[in-house]
Amino acid sequence: MSPGETLKTERLALRPFRRDDVDDVDDALAYRNDAEFSRFLPHIPHPFTRQDAEAFVATNCNEPWSRSPTFAVTLDGVLIGTVNFEVDAGTASAMIGYAIGREWWGQGIATEATAAAMKWAVKRFELRRVWASTDVRNTRSRRVLEKLGMRPTHTRLAEHKDRDGTSIEEVVCAVDVKLGR
Ligand SMILES: CC(C)(COP(=O)(O)OP(=O)(O)OC[C@H]1O[C@@H](n2cnc3c(N)ncnc32)[C@H](O)[C@@H]1OP(=O)(O)O)[C@@H](O)C(=O)NCCC(=O)NCCS
Repeated sequence: MSPGETLKTERLALRPFRRDDVDDVDDALAYRNDAEFSRFLPHIPHPFTRQDAEAFVATNCNEPWSRSPTFAVTLDGVLIGTVNFEVDAGTASAMIGYAIGREWWGQGIATEATAAAMKWAVKRFELRRVWASTDVRNTRSRRVLEKLGMRPTHTRLAEHKDRDGTSIEEVVCAVDVKLGR
């Protein structure tokens, strides 16, 4: 497996997950034990237990970096969120996902982290297109995608249901990467 890489931005470091990240469960990963944080991410268990944290860290450590790189987003050494990609080499495209703990919302952190990660991914995987999908009600997330230069392409019913079993409408957004960028 190719080793992960570390990226630095003005305020953040984005690095691969480490096994010992789970030991920070009472501190760093506590951001995931928040119903407001996972409101539009029903696949994240709530409450988020130590067992969930172990599974989360194990998955992020084991995913192949060449196809599904997942960065731990850190601020002053504290793990505050994630940015991840699902790369489709066949179409030179990648899906981007991101999540930041509520304590750090509204400071441009997600935009700073995703912009740096996207720039890295475009170069690393020679991408021509980056896309994302988000719950239509997730206005913060939609704004992040807009700031990344993505535009809505269509809406669709999500494959997963909401926590109460109802269907979720999601918007798919994408940006075509210009040659030489
Ligand atoms: C979506 C999320 C990543 C945004 O993180 P963030 O660090 O607050 O994002 P930023 O500060 O970079 O940008 C947020 C933008 O939303 C705007 N915003 C904040 N609250 C808003 C609201 N209630 N309605 C509309 N826009 C809002 C902010 O003003 C900002 O835009 P601006 O820079 O033009 O002012 C964060 O809320 C999160 O992790 N949520 C939980 C997980 C999640 O939903 N992830 C996305 C899955 S698709």
